[in-house]
Amino acid sequence: MASMSEKSPGVAPTGTNPKDGFPSPAPALSAVPDGAEDVARDLEQLRDRYRKTTNALASAAHDLKTPLAILNGYIELLQSQKLGPLNERQREVMGDMFSSGQRLQQFIQDFLTFSVLETGELRMQFVEGDMNTCLSEVCRLWSTRFQERGLALYFLANDKLPAFAFDGPKIQRVISNLLENACKYTPQGGTVWLHAEPHMWERRGVAKSSVNGERRRQSLSAPNAVKVSVSDTGPGIRPEFHLEIFDDFFRLPGSESAEGMGLGLAIARRLLQGMSGKIWVESEPGAGCKFSFLMPLKPILNSPQRGPK
Ligand SMILES: Nc1ncnc2c1ncn2[C@@H]1O[C@H](COP(=O)(O)OP(=O)(O)OP(=O)(O)O)[C@@H](O)[C@H]1O
Ligand SMILES: [Mg+2]
Repeated sequence: MASMSEKSPGVAPTGTNPKDGFPSPAPALSAVPDGAEDVARDLEQLRDRYRKTTNALASAAHDLKTPLAILNGYIELLQSQKLGPLNERQREVMGDMFSSGQRLQQFIQDFLTFSVLETGELRMQFVEGDMNTCLSEVCRLWSTRFQERGLALYFLANDKLPAFAFDGPKIQRVISNLLENACKYTPQGGTVWLHAEPHMWERRGVAKSSVNGERRRQSLSAPNAVKVSVSDTGPGIRPEFHLEIFDDFFRLPGSESAEGMGLGLAIARRLLQGMSGKIWVESEPGAGCKFSFLMPLKPILNSPQRGPK
C-alpha cells in the first residue's frame, strides 16, 4: 500500500504507521491538543446550536398549543349543537375540522415531548396509583376512534395488579402511542387487546449488585414489575425492523400512506427508559404485533438515561 507521503509529496513528512501505512501523528506534541481543542469547541458549539434550535421550535410549538386548544373547544361546542342545530353538511365539515384539530394537537404534543426528551429536561413524577384505572382511562379516550375505524378494542381490568408508584400521565402517553399505531395500521374489522399483568423481571445488572443468590431467588418468586401489552391483528413487522422502529423518525417502508412522523415509538422508548422500564415488540409479517413494556414496581434510582433498546 502506498504511503500518504508518496501520494501527496507536498505534505510535510510525519512518518508512517507500520500497521496501516497512514501518517503517524506529528511529533510536535502541542499540535494534537490544539486540534483536539478545536474539535471539542466546534462540537460544543454545534450542540449549543442544536439545543437552541430545539428549544426555539419547542417554544413555538408550545405557543401554538393554547390557541389550538381554544379552537378545538369551540369546534366541540358547535358539534354539540348547544349553539344551534347543524345540518348534515355542517356536521360533516365540523367532523373533519375536529379530527384535523386533534391531529395537529397530537403532532404538537409529540414534538414537545421529543424536544423535552432531547434536551434532557423531563422530570418523572411517581405517584402511588392503580394501573387498571390508568389503562381504562386511555381506553375510554380511544374507544370512539377505534369504533370509527371499524376496530374492536378490548381491555379487561386485572385484579392481580398491585398498587405501586408510577408516572400516570407518561404511562398513558406510552399506551396512547401504542394504541394510536394499532388503530392506524390495523385494517378495518381487526381487533386490538390491551392487557396488563404482574411480572417477574430479572434485571441482570441490578439483581447481581444488590442481592445475594438465596435472597435473589426468594425475591424473584414475587413479581417485581408490571407488564403491559398492546396486541393487534394488523400486518405485523418483519423481525429485522424490531429494533429500528424505536429510532427517532423511523417509519417502515410502505407506511407513508398513514399520517405520522415516526416519533411515537421513539418517544415511548425514551419515556420508559426515564422510568427504568423497557419496551419491545414481538411480531411476524401477517400475524399482527404485540408491543409490551415493563415497569418496575419500585422505581430504580440512578438508572441510565439511555439504556439498551
Ligand atoms: N401496530 C403496528 N403495526 C404495524 N406497523 C407498525 C405498528 N406500530 C408501528 N409500526 C411501524 O413502526 C413505525 C414507527 O412507528 P411510530 O409510532 O414511531 O411512528 P408513526 O406511527 O409512523 O408516526 P407518529 O407516531 O410519529 O405519528 C411506523 O411508521 C410503522 O411502520
Ligand atoms: Mg405512531
